[in-house]
Amino acid sequence: MSLEKKYIIIGVTGGIAAYKSAYLVRELKKQGADVQVVMTESAKSFITELTLQALSGHPVLSEILDPKSESGIEHIEKARKADAVIIAPATANTISKINMGMADNLLTGIVLATTAPVFLAPAMNEIMWKNQITQNNIQSLRNYGFHVINPGCGFQACGGEGEGRMAEPHYIADFLDKFFNDKPLKGKKVIITAGPTVEPIDPVRYISNHSSGKMGYALAKAAYEFGADVTIISGPVHIARPDKIEVISVKTAKQMLEAVRSRVTGTDIFISCAAVSDYTVEEPKKQKIKKEDNSDELTLRLIKNTDILSTIAHSEDRPMLVVGFAAETENLEEYATKKLRKKNADIIVANDVSDTDIGFNSDNNAVTIFSKELPPKQFSNRLKTELGHDILIFCIEYLKQLNQKNYNLS
Ligand code: C5P
Repeated sequence: MSLEKKYIIIGVTGGIAAYKSAYLVRELKKQGADVQVVMTESAKSFITELTLQALSGHPVLSEILDPKSESGIEHIEKARKADAVIIAPATANTISKINMGMADNLLTGIVLATTAPVFLAPAMNEIMWKNQITQNNIQSLRNYGFHVINPGCGFQACGGEGEGRMAEPHYIADFLDKFFNDKPLKGKKVIITAGPTVEPIDPVRYISNHSSGKMGYALAKAAYEFGADVTIISGPVHIARPDKIEVISVKTAKQMLEAVRSRVTGTDIFISCAAVSDYTVEEPKKQKIKKEDNSDELTLRLIKNTDILSTIAHSEDRPMLVVGFAAETENLEEYATKKLRKKNADIIVANDVSDTDIGFNSDNNAVTIFSKELPPKQFSNRLKTELGHDILIFCIEYLKQLNQKNYNLS
């Protein structure tokens, strides 16, 4: 396990715990990382640049517009180059600025401009940490995909004891090591369908649904973080294209099926998360349908779309693991287990869409996972980003079970 060849930016902000960042630089260097320290102005009141320069082997950076740097736009260059950005200590002030999207110094500029994972190790007085404003900022940053390494409890520099002490440098280094090296899906190819499909009625109208694609994209990110080579086949969504994940954009169910079919050979995991329209218009009109003055009705003839999940799960190219979703308003278990058999899936992730506060279009979801090999597992209401991770962990457990079984058979 190591951080060999990783270019890691350590952001140091102005808190007493800034002295601990010297130890963090040393821990990461010991693991082979190339460490670049970026300090805010107030951090310099707590620890010298020279100390961090000597330990990291690079001059410390802090100017956002630096005439001495070759390009003068250091934040973009460094943001691009970084494999990870870790802010330790992260003060309440910097946390709040990042959450607002501010880029008023080199560090916040880098955070806004990077697509690398960003880790925050908050450090502050207990009351500041527990303040609802800070907690809301932290929650919001988690929603954006930031990794928060929670502070610990203990003696505080301001006197007294409480939660808010920055996590210890060796713990932060282990956290990063785990993030980069715990890759159970390394070498695995994963295809995920996401979002809705749209079925044209005429050149300006279509049939679709409320799927936002958030669940599918969260699954893709989790699969990527577990080391997989990921492709999303996506219906129209309003989500920024993730870096390092291939996204194939489609509109109709037919296009989605073709896109999956043409890439499925050699795929290890297929996750059918898209809300595929069950029906499509038999003959979409070439011209816009005009309102008829002499009739109050319009009849559209719909025909069934091919079931992508079932087609792939019954094909010769069937990936080792096939996962489907089921949105139900009643009899969750009965319908989900029926779907497992009928569609030849290994896993069905079922959610109760009768609760309109979660599920479709929301940031949260609650699901129960049914499978052929493992007992059902329930996941209570949580962020889709977290749920994506949980579902992938279930998939990894399932793959282990399958491998075990095959091993026992051979
Ligand atoms: O049968 P039902 O639509 O409830 O099944 C939902 C599951 O089937 C989801 O995983 C969805 O992605 C998939 N599906 C599909 N193609 C369709 C309809 C549903 O892949 N035409």
